[in-house]
Amino acid sequence: MVAAETAVSEVDGANGRLIYRGGYLIEDLVPVVGYEEAAYLLWNGELPNEKELDALRQRMAKARELNKAAKGALTAMDPTTDPMDILRTVVSAQGAAKTLTKPTLDEAVALTAVFPTIVGAIHRRRQGKEVVLPRGDLGHAANLLWMMTGEEPAADKVHWLDTYLVLLADHGLNASTFAARVVASTGSDLASCVVGAIAALKGPAHGGATLAARNMLDKIGSADNAERWLAEAHARHERFSGFGHRVYRTYDPRAKILREMAKTAAPELHETAAKTEEVALRILHEAHPDRPNATNVDFWASVVLTGAGIPKELFTTIFATSRVAGWTAHVLESLSDLRLIRPASRWVGPQPGKKPLQLAKR
Ligand SMILES: CC(C)(COP(=O)(O)OP(=O)(O)OC[C@H]1O[C@@H](n2cnc3c(N)ncnc32)[C@H](O)[C@@H]1OP(=O)(O)O)[C@@H](O)C(=O)NCCC(=O)NCCS
Repeated sequence: MVAAETAVSEVDGANGRLIYRGGYLIEDLVPVVGYEEAAYLLWNGELPNEKELDALRQRMAKARELNKAAKGALTAMDPTTDPMDILRTVVSAQGAAKTLTKPTLDEAVALTAVFPTIVGAIHRRRQGKEVVLPRGDLGHAANLLWMMTGEEPAADKVHWLDTYLVLLADHGLNASTFAARVVASTGSDLASCVVGAIAALKGPAHGGATLAARNMLDKIGSADNAERWLAEAHARHERFSGFGHRVYRTYDPRAKILREMAKTAAPELHETAAKTEEVALRILHEAHPDRPNATNVDFWASVVLTGAGIPKELFTTIFATSRVAGWTAHVLESLSDLRLIRPASRWVGPQPGKKPLQLAKR
């Protein structure tokens, strides 16, 4: 069923292709663009020239500080609260306004710029440490690592995180993007669309799968244990996290890129993960020879994010930090032909007149 027309990105599941706006394959973009360029492309439909990229970087760097309401919301929350709940609440406070406004590109840029500030602060507070202020001289990924650690980020870690952010920035009409478009279709404001999207991303069937994949690798523990652990899990009818996909019927093209990167980003975890993947794919193939359940992005993302120094509890917030560019691009795109999304439902209740009205005694 087609629920929207979009030129922001396309998931070609049969051929294992992810196409970003403008018709670019993800594997052609990733080696040559950083997150800011990818976001510009999703928002504007074209890659920026040097001047445009510079201007975007400056706009984002200037928009990194939280406003008073967001700072208040952040400090009012217990640091041990679920990071996605803090993110959702602080984004909501950051976007609170006196009157309803129509989403704009400026707002999309500003909202995207503030995500690393929130995630950095969540991390510092979880550790009982002082929040680190954003740095205007660093790029999006580098600033995020800086705000988490308060240390000059290593170039390779910045590269791994930046690659992840580019890869996850958009993915067709996934659940959270659809949620954003549903909210937009009512004529609501941009922050409300993004808050709705964060809420949809939070669930384990969507954004939580990267954490689930890492938890599975932690339980497996070592390459030697993969065969036994997976066979037992399969016998218990458990699903292998990071495998299978609603749309892809081939290896996820994003997972392919991250699998390569994982070798250098986290060599020890890579060894366990590579063996886990080999065994899992064999078991899945034996169970369903006609149904290709291949590796999805979450499996290898969990290894690469670990290498970049991101604790697993923050994985879903980092996913949101990337996907906000896609959410906002979809909302802006939908404005050109704004129609209320109102799907039909099928009535499965009793027909009227069959059940007598039973009222409480008055
Ligand atoms: C993503 C997912 C929900 C897609 O599911 P789907 O395309 O609707 O496929 P179905 O749920 O209909 O599964 C089809 C069959 O393959 C099996 N299967 C699919 N993914 C599996 C997995 N990860 N592990 C074990 N078996 C799996 C199912 O058990 C089912 O077999 P059955 O008919 O004997 O019950 C599913 O693959 C999954 O749960 N994956 C694990 C979670 C995950 O990695 N999510 C992130 C997705 S990006």
